[in-house]
Amino acid sequence: MRIDAENFRQKLQAVGQTWSLPTLLAEFIQISHRPSSGAADFERLIARDPVVAARILKIANSAYYGQSGKISTIRQAVVLLGLNTLRTILLGLSFRSTLLQMRGSSLDYRLFWRHSLAVAAACRSLARMLRKGNVEEAFLAGLLHDLGKILLDQIQPFEASQSLRQAVAEQTFLCTAEQAVLGYDHAQIGGWAGELWNLPPALWDAIAVHHTPSPERKDGLLSALVYSANLLAHSAKIHAEKVSLPYADSPAIETMLPGLSHDLPALLQFLAADMAQAQNAYGSLENSVA
Ligand SMILES: [Fe+2]
Ligand SMILES: [Fe+2]
Repeated sequence: MRIDAENFRQKLQAVGQTWSLPTLLAEFIQISHRPSSGAADFERLIARDPVVAARILKIANSAYYGQSGKISTIRQAVVLLGLNTLRTILLGLSFRSTLLQMRGSSLDYRLFWRHSLAVAAACRSLARMLRKGNVEEAFLAGLLHDLGKILLDQIQPFEASQSLRQAVAEQTFLCTAEQAVLGYDHAQIGGWAGELWNLPPALWDAIAVHHTPSPERKDGLLSALVYSANLLAHSAKIHAEKVSLPYADSPAIETMLPGLSHDLPALLQFLAADMAQAQNAYGSLENSVA
């Protein structure tokens, strides 16, 4: 059944109610906004859930965060990594456990997670290389950039499969096939969801235009990072789909991110190691324990 954009937004609202932020994360965000909060408040909060605490320590000690073996308590993690990084780790863990519970028709959630994490790691590295923007925000935008694919798979599984089949048969971009089948695409859907769920505007905007950014956009750094990181992950053959689809490679990364001193092959080589480290830190969906 073809449903219009307004109808889809209403369905999204319903999904949003069942996808509320995990309590721990919601409390974490509250505490981080309270000026009087200190490391002890975070320690107390995270210690309430020993499984989460153990996973956070494992990730905090990974090579990806550069603290191998130095962190043995949550307090040390707060001090050495900072609250922003800790929040990203918690969000990453929450996103992963949400995906672990998903059963889809057209989406392979293991590949989807691998791709999302690779794009997140590439976004973070690109922001670092450029010394621009907030690296944690960049990681998060990369992690969530294809959120619309999950929503489409959950809300309109038949059309999601049909779009994928059409993109393969016609060797066209997935967004083009989705537009033909549905009248909207996964990037738009992700943007709608981000707006509905009150994510920061720069974040949902970057999600919404991750296939169609423009160098002229104001405040377009985050969208340029996500766009470029997505291309790099596809160039490294870390796709979200089982099938091979064409991906747009224009505008060029150099145009989107002026100031990068590496050419594409050098960037790919540099980022491959980073993507692998992020994968090791957060784990794949094949292992049920992070
Ligand atoms: Fe996408
Ligand atoms: Fe993607």
